[in-house]
Amino acid sequence: MSQSARPVADVITPEPVVEGAGVHLRRSIGTRRLDHLDPFLLLDHFESVSPADYEAGFPYHPHRGIETVTLVRKGEVRHGDSLGHRGAIGAGDIQWMTSGSGIMHEEMPQVRPEGIAGLQLWLNLPAREKMSRPKYRDLQADGLPPATTDGGAEVRVIAGEAMDGRLTGPVSGLAVAPKFVDVVLAPRTTFRDVVPRGHTAFAYVDAGAVRFGPERKVVRAPALVVFGDGDLVEADAGDEGGRFLLAAARPLHEPIARYGPFVMNTRAEIEQTLAELRSGRFLREEPRDE
Ligand code: FE2
Repeated sequence: MSQSARPVADVITPEPVVEGAGVHLRRSIGTRRLDHLDPFLLLDHFESVSPADYEAGFPYHPHRGIETVTLVRKGEVRHGDSLGHRGAIGAGDIQWMTSGSGIMHEEMPQVRPEGIAGLQLWLNLPAREKMSRPKYRDLQADGLPPATTDGGAEVRVIAGEAMDGRLTGPVSGLAVAPKFVDVVLAPRTTFRDVVPRGHTAFAYVDAGAVRFGPERKVVRAPALVVFGDGDLVEADAGDEGGRFLLAAARPLHEPIARYGPFVMNTRAEIEQTLAELRSGRFLREEPRDE
């Protein structure tokens, strides 16, 4: 049976948003235009060489019910959390945090000559895992070496499998079976990979220009490309080259109740979260993580 390439269903230009203590960023999922893309809840792109756009950062704040995935492209983000993790995420590093029942953390971009650039994506947890133990994965750039595909694309597999199972990312075993592949296309190279039928899939182009789908639709950064259903994602670059994050996951089809950094299934669960935060019962007392 021949495999069908996923068409481009929508191209979304990110909206300017000010978040945290005053960080200027571009949001493409989690807006009035696109509330969510089940199971993806939010996608923020931060990129600036002007400290005023980013130095205020994201001081200590809570999360519940989601996973946050942060990719740093340029510069450095210092972080610390209620599980006792503390450190810096630098260029090429990825932080994959499962908030589960609750975590408090801070994410502070450092002022550096090269500025800051990166992406943060929120992935929903299924109802049965929303109150699970928080977990933290620190994926360092040197543990994510790029591989070159037959079409000349340079890929780093973060989650799931790529290239017919020849490459496997460090993140696996999650309920929504995410596939995250970071793709760099040099001029006139191509990328082609399977994405399970029925899974939600998008590409976020944050540099250059890339053509997607059987229609070879040209998409220029910054932009979110939402794919229709099919078996494969196809992309190629013209004379300029480009870079994108390909993300796919199984939709949850569960009700979403969101309030700032908390995403639950019902309004009552949000109210309970806020009550726990007020009374100091938000963080669970039992031992956490490894
Ligand atoms: Fe956060």
